Order: sequence, then C-alpha cells, then structure tokens
Amino acid sequence: MLNEEIKHQYKRWYGTFLGFRQSHAYWMYKVIDDVLNDNEQIEGIIEIGTGRGALSIFLGLECYERGLKPLITYDILPLIRKPKLFKLLGIKFINRDCYHGDSIREMNEYIDNKPILFFSDNGNKLRDFNYFIKLLPKDSVFASHDWESIAKAKLTEKNTKENVEKYSLQSLFRKEWDGPPDYIKTCFWRKTI
Ligand SMILES: C[S@@+](CC[C@H](N)C(=O)[O-])C[C@H]1O[C@@H](n2cnc3c(N)ncnc32)[C@H](O)[C@@H]1O
Repeated sequence: MLNEEIKHQYKRWYGTFLGFRQSHAYWMYKVIDDVLNDNEQIEGIIEIGTGRGALSIFLGLECYERGLKPLITYDILPLIRKPKLFKLLGIKFINRDCYHGDSIREMNEYIDNKPILFFSDNGNKLRDFNYFIKLLPKDSVFASHDWESIAKAKLTEKNTKENVEKYSLQSLFRKEWDGPPDYIKTCFWRKTI
C-alpha cells in the first residue's frame, strides 16, 4: 500500500493526451516545452519506450512545429492502436529493442553528430542513462522519467553521480523534477562536454 504522501505525489499522473493514456503528469510536457525553448541547438528527438504513444505524439508535434528531424521512437512491444498523428507528423515508430545493433546504428545515423533531445522512458532507466549518455554529442539533452520515483529502475542523485561528473552534465529546470504540485519525476541534463 502506498502511504498518503506518495499517493499525493502521484495524484496528477495518468490523464490522457488527445485521448491516449499518459504515463506521466501533464506538467512534464510543459517542462519539455521549456527545455526546447531554451535549447535551440536541438535538431531532433529520440524516444525509447513508446508505450501507447501519448508522449510520442507530443514530442512529434514539437519536432514538426520547430522544424526538427521527425521523432523516432522505439518499443519492443507493438502499438495497441497507432495514433493517426504518427503519419501526419512523420513519426517513425520502430518495433524493436532499442539496444539491438540495428537500433543503435539507426540512432547514430539520426544523431549524425548533432545535438538532440534523448528521452528515456524505457524499462531500465539506469542502464539507459549509462549507455545512451555516451552516444550523445555535446549540447544534447538527456531526459529520463522515474527520477527518484517509486519504480525499481529509478534514477537517483547517487546512481547518476559518476556520469554527471564525467560528462559535466548540467541539470535543467531542476526544481520541477520532484516538486509539488506535479512531481513529474523526470530529470533533464544538458551534456556540456
Ligand atoms: C512506461 S512505458 C512508455 C510510456 C510512453 N512513453 C507514454 O508516454 O505513454 C515503457 C515502455 O518501454 C518499453 N520497453 C522496455 N524495454 C525496452 C527496450 N529494451 N527497447 C524498447 N522498448 C522497451 C516497454 O515495452 C513499454 O512499452
């Protein structure tokens, strides 16, 4: 059973976006928008963990409107219902493990040594952070859900410390990560070297 404090933190999660169930608090989308406003160097977005596609639609809209490369998004599971907007926005849904050699090759081609926003919403956030942070060029932003959350595979101050120092990661909008009223439980790091 979740205690009252934890229940309070999660009460603003699990709405819908254009009718698709969200896995996050709606406010997280607003913070992503702020991050993109402040990081005009970003040239594309990769998402790992498509789920039902709510966040993918939002990220796809960001790419389309800002003139970035269209979103690519990975999931090991097929989509239950492919949102119609995927086609309109040129979103490429890739039904494959994001660690598969073909996926890594495809991501490197997409990145093409240009800064991107990489959003990890996968099964194992720590593995993703440690692996994908290496792949990203300078001035990319790495974002991940499950910052200090109740998930087993969460990211924490402690387990990110080594790579935060190694890659001089600068935290963005830090007070939004785990604060009231939304507790978006999402971290944003800009890679400065
Ligand atoms: C929390 S859900 C994603 C939620 C989604 N971003 C949204 O906004 O609704 C996590 C997803 O990651 C997928 N996943 C887990 N491990 C994966 C892997 N190695 N490669 C690709 N997808 C993976 C799962 O199948 C699951 O659909």
